[in-house]
Amino acid sequence: MSVVAARAPAKVNVHLGVGPLRPDGFHELRTVYLAVSLFDTVTAQAGDGLALTVTGEGTGGARGADLVPTDRRNLVWRAAELLATSAGVPADATVEIAKSIPAAAGLAGGSADAAAALVALDALWRTRASREDLVGLAAQLGSDVPFSLVGGVALGAGRGEQVTPVLSRTRRHWVLGIAGEGLSTPAVYGELDRMRAAGRVPDGTDLATAEPVVAALRSGPTAVLASALGNDLQAPALALRPELGRALRAATEAGAAAALVSGSGPTVAALAGDEQDALRLAAELAGAGVFRTVRAVHGPVPGARLVG
Ligand code: C5P
Repeated sequence: MSVVAARAPAKVNVHLGVGPLRPDGFHELRTVYLAVSLFDTVTAQAGDGLALTVTGEGTGGARGADLVPTDRRNLVWRAAELLATSAGVPADATVEIAKSIPAAAGLAGGSADAAAALVALDALWRTRASREDLVGLAAQLGSDVPFSLVGGVALGAGRGEQVTPVLSRTRRHWVLGIAGEGLSTPAVYGELDRMRAAGRVPDGTDLATAEPVVAALRSGPTAVLASALGNDLQAPALALRPELGRALRAATEAGAAAALVSGSGPTVAALAGDEQDALRLAAELAGAGVFRTVRAVHGPVPGARLVG
């Protein structure tokens, strides 16, 4: 196999319950992940040592280059080294990441890239890792990487890396409103800790169960799912980026069934009734002047897969 490519999806947390800060610096989560139809593609071919290039969304400008590094700071680089070490093969590959998922947007773009890299390099190097092996490596790379491999709908526990797939075939339509500047995930978690210490939001010791959201996602009217959505990181994301309030209002005023911040933000995920409604909503939000990019997507979609 001389060139292999894999793609992996963006995610939205349709429920994100954040517990207190743990001694290891992470927060205990109860989350419901949904993989949506916005994909990054990782292409790998034989090389001498590791080389990484990045094209597409969020690259090119000075700011983009900051957000998507092409050295060891990139999760794809670490994924390659980790897979090579665990399989006992040299980490020789030339890897290209073609990005459609914006960086630092709360859509797990970097995690998608790492998951796609594990799948592509497993094929290129013929390491024949099982899915379980890859999920284990993914958990060492980042909290959202196991879900990027698994895709679909899944419950997430621990720091998010303990993923339990949920059978759900009901296709839901969403519009993602992507703001200009990324938000740092640790900064948003840190702001939540400060808001909790000041008593401005509940302390997180009483983590709500995710089951009602899963049930609503699997079947039933959009309105029921709309009222079940929730994200504990929304308040701190709004505190750090007040313009997000206007973006959320723009989505509901344009007729979204509900709108919430995706993960640590600043992407706004707006729930639509059906595909037509999503296209109408996307057109309206594109003209609202609050988002850099607007994308109509659907989910669930599969996790990281070989393509081509
Ligand atoms: O696992 P990942 O590298 O994506 O996490 C990035 C940062 O987000 C962590 O260093 C931590 O500050 C924060 N985080 C957290 N609790 C989680 C997941 C992430 O506090 N469950």
